[in-house]
Amino acid sequence: MHLISSNNMSSARFVLLSLCSALLLQATHGADPLFHFCSTPENFTADSPYESNLNKLTGFLYAKTSSSGFGLGSIGQYQDQVYGLTLCRGDASPTDCKACMADAGAEIRRCCPRNKGAIIWYDKCMFKYLDADFFGQIDNANKFYMWNLNNVSDPKAFNSKVRGLLTGLFEEAYTVPKMFATGEVGLEGKTKLYGSVQCTRDLSSTECKECLEGAIGELPSCCDGKEGGRVIGGSCNFRYEIYPFVNV
Ligand SMILES: *[C@@H]1O[C@H](CO)[C@@H](O)[C@H](O)[C@H]1NC(C)=O
Ligand SMILES: *[C@@H]1O[C@H](CO)[C@@H](O)[C@H](O)[C@H]1NC(C)=O
Repeated sequence: MHLISSNNMSSARFVLLSLCSALLLQATHGADPLFHFCSTPENFTADSPYESNLNKLTGFLYAKTSSSGFGLGSIGQYQDQVYGLTLCRGDASPTDCKACMADAGAEIRRCCPRNKGAIIWYDKCMFKYLDADFFGQIDNANKFYMWNLNNVSDPKAFNSKVRGLLTGLFEEAYTVPKMFATGEVGLEGKTKLYGSVQCTRDLSSTECKECLEGAIGELPSCCDGKEGGRVIGGSCNFRYEIYPFVNV
């Protein structure tokens, strides 16, 4: 479990505890990743069939995700088989999705150069690959939190609004093909609370429900009384903020 705090007071700059390397600072184009895990200790060797399959799969998933916002695929046989999954945020435009996938495909290799499995998240997309079939299984291993440093004045009332909004959203998300839902509710005065939830589309509707229930159950540990928060995993995520962050 990893924790990241973010201060969204004026600009959305994140305080990252773990950047993959100084190389990241040289990546001048595109957005920075939110987080990554190199999820297996095993390495592939340079110019091996595994590497070649991973390269092919990355290209395949890039093309697939650019049009549908989601990609799932596997290439190779036996010990050289690679499984991959890509997902763009449900509201990402095809252009944003494509740009994010290009960043993710390159950056995951910089962060985890030879690992047989890895996962990387951006604001607008995620990319995961592994040397074993993980499709349709809830990923409980790869997960992190982000939260706004600002505290709300009435945590009890606010937390209950957050839980209410996210619960309504997850009940919608697991019943729709995109497995993504967004919404808002009024707070005091002119303030509103905005939320989104999303599952990877390899999950069944039951698994999506289970995954989001689990994530929302982590609200007290992730973002108790915080103006904004996210639980981001390999199979589902939620986010809430007191400012609009979804493109409509
Ligand atoms: C994989 O490579 C890394 C970096 O070179 C090394 O630290 C690690 O021990 C290797 N893992 C295995 C299982 O050999
Ligand atoms: C929010 O509350 C925590 C815990 O009481 C405190 O440590 C932190 O400094 C507060 N944050 C801000 C921005 O005031």
